[in-house]
Amino acid sequence: MKTRLTRIVSSLAIMAALLMVMVVAGCDRVSKPELKGEGPLALTLPEGMLSPEYHQPVEYWKTHHMDIIAHGDYEKQECMLCHDANTSCNNCHEYVGVATVETYE
Ligand code: HEC
Ligand code: HEC
Repeated sequence: MKTRLTRIVSSLAIMAALLMVMVVAGCDRVSKPELKGEGPLALTLPEGMLSPEYHQPVEYWKTHHMDIIAHGDYEKQECMLCHDANTSCNNCHEYVGVATVETYE
């Protein structure tokens, strides 16, 4: 028959094991499409390039650039003055499952 103590010890061991799994999983760096990211999905823009004022704040722009393009305020082609569609549009679009944009090359 299990004593109360062995039960406590074994449940502590299970909790410690779960914690280890969570820590290890958290450390696993998965590449995401983000600026200054790592890996094949990292977004890249030329070094030292300033972002236009209409990008500010950039968090707003990230979630609303599609609406602004849809309104016709900016043409997609204008974005490519600074952005390379392969390395700073479509790596994110492919990641989130949105139709890719033309590269205008
Ligand atoms: C004058 C150069 C320039 C133009 C034109 C430009 N961008 Fe950008 N864009 C940048 C820079 C630089 C950044 C980096 C963010 C920052 O530093 O604020 C950026 C960031 C972004 C980001 C955020 C990336 C991220 O995940 O952080 C998106 C999305 C984006 N641009 C989309 C567009 C779209 C869509 C257009 C066209 C309507 C466009 N950009 C036109 C220079 C430009
Ligand atoms: C960090 C991620 C990210 C980056 C970088 C990014 N987009 Fe997007 N874009 C999205 C998401 C997410 C959507 C879809 C939003 C939705 O469906 O509501 C989207 C939608 C769009 C749409 C509408 C497409 C459709 O089929 O409805 C256009 C046009 C667009 N983006 C252009 C661009 C251009 C041009 C660039 C590069 C200059 C760019 N995006 C960079 C995340 C991104």
